Amino acid sequence: MNDKQLVAIEASQLVQDGMVVGLGTGSTANFFIEALAQRQQQGLNISTIASSTISAIKAAACGLTLIDFAQASHVDLYVDGADEISPHLTLLKGRGQDLVMEKLLAHYAKSFVVVADKSKLVSRIGENFVIPIEVMPSAWKMVKAQLLELGATGDIRLNASQDNVAVTASGSYVLDMRFPIQYDEKRLNDLLNAIPGVVEHGIFYGLTQQVIIADQGKLEIKQA
Ligand code: 5RP
Repeated sequence: MNDKQLVAIEASQLVQDGMVVGLGTGSTANFFIEALAQRQQQGLNISTIASSTISAIKAAACGLTLIDFAQASHVDLYVDGADEISPHLTLLKGRGQDLVMEKLLAHYAKSFVVVADKSKLVSRIGENFVIPIEVMPSAWKMVKAQLLELGATGDIRLNASQDNVAVTASGSYVLDMRFPIQYDEKRLNDLLNAIPGVVEHGIFYGLTQQVIIADQGKLEIKQA
């Protein structure tokens, strides 16, 4: 069993009968979906909300009961992976195209648990990846110009074949940006939250309750 599977199985043990469970997106989240489906087969009664179409497809294939976010009045537990995890448990997410739904689930869930292998631990957000910023298509140039003025570097994300701009699940464009080191995670979060035209961004600040990390088969739990 690899580390991603290990943390996913550990997180599945947190799920209790009757819960509404948010499903993340990515390879680690996929292992969680499988582990949850196994618990359901053993008699657990739950419903789930997917953070992306691909997670919904996976969940349905595994036999999980899915409900629409728009029909839900609460989420008990949301389990997802991350691209980076800082010492204060701030996350960088959104390498994919689904960060708006991921942020909604992380914010509204009573508990947000992150599952990852040790490679995701960083000393500062932005260490390994650019920061994805979803922008309204009509505002992308204005937002980019403002970010460049503030010292950031980067550009609009292109699609996989590099022949057009990438469009996210919520219909936004994405600016993939790097920021100077003096922008710490709180400052970056506050800054990006305040710019009109920014739909959502990949910094998940103050949202995580627990991180489950595995390093070569050894589990570590970090509480916020
Ligand atoms: C998608 C995400 C993923 O959770 C993140 O990219 C981690 O993926 P993986 O579990 O495949 O390493 O934030 O938006």
